[in-house]
Amino acid sequence: MDRLKRNKLAKLDCIEFNVSLSDYTTYKVGGEAAAFAHPHTEEEVIEVLQAVKGLDIPFFFIGNGSNMLISDLGYDGVVIKLGRGFEAISVNGNIAKAGSSASLWELVKYTARHSLSGLEPLSGIPGSVGGALLMNAGAYGKSISDVLVRLRAIDPETLRVSWYDQASIQYKYRSSGIPLFHLSAEFLLEPDNLDEIKKRIAVYLAKRKSAQPLDKPSAGCVFKNPPDDHAGRIIDELGLKGLSSGGAEVSSKHANFIVNNGGAKAKDIYELINMVKKTVKLQKGIDLELEVQLKGRWE
Ligand code: EPU
Repeated sequence: MDRLKRNKLAKLDCIEFNVSLSDYTTYKVGGEAAAFAHPHTEEEVIEVLQAVKGLDIPFFFIGNGSNMLISDLGYDGVVIKLGRGFEAISVNGNIAKAGSSASLWELVKYTARHSLSGLEPLSGIPGSVGGALLMNAGAYGKSISDVLVRLRAIDPETLRVSWYDQASIQYKYRSSGIPLFHLSAEFLLEPDNLDEIKKRIAVYLAKRKSAQPLDKPSAGCVFKNPPDDHAGRIIDELGLKGLSSGGAEVSSKHANFIVNNGGAKAKDIYELINMVKKTVKLQKGIDLELEVQLKGRWE
């Protein structure tokens, strides 16, 4: 980023420069962001967006970094992480409200404590509420959009803040239909017996633990499932479990996970992604689509 742009950005209160991103992703890899903004209010978010758009600086929002692979070469732009003002979770009747940077798992536990049911299948998903909505995270037949009532978000073009009804967003499998910068969301849940909710949560957590390598850094499933099949099943069938590159490995527990065995670089993970994709295309004629978001420069 050139000095002039950097100096203009430096006028923002919530900005830092040359920030290592490896602690901001669950893979625990990635180089530095040229700039890192952590706005705490809606006004501050708009201020940051006006600045980056005005200066024509690339940017992206990061949530919990649990579905993201950031290049070792870093990101020559601004990474925006919503701050404390977007972490609140509350309940009013059957409606739960959460800021975008609240943890999805905290939301599941909070609503359970208020005897509200509906989010149990999403137990243990490591993302933020905003990230989960952006990707329409799901598990065990339930997607987060199934319980969403409305979303408070910024229109990327006009930078206007408004509420969007669930139906207007056109959610699909692991995607949301319109690009929006998420701020907070409201979910409609159902009253239920606390012990029953807790039991279901325990069952989903156990299922997840038995099928997925939760003991090692990863970004969950790397590829989206192709229609009527499972990327993990296909990769497994092709004997790719255990395939490694540097410190990264195709998990031997779940073939659609790439795990960091310690000391992996982003380029190791990227190389494995390409090897798996190529093999699946060659052997099965299937083009696997990435679920993990790639950020930064790749060689
Ligand atoms: N399978 C294998 N080998 C493997 C992995 C899976 O044969 O290495 C087989 C399983 O035996 C099963 C089938 O593939 O018959 C499906 O496996 P699983 O139940 O683990 O579901 P999945 O389709 O691989 C999806 C989501 C997960 C979510 C689980 C549970 C995607 C890409 N993945 O996995 O989401 O947790 O269902 O509902 O949709 C994520 O998105 O990051 C993620 C982990």
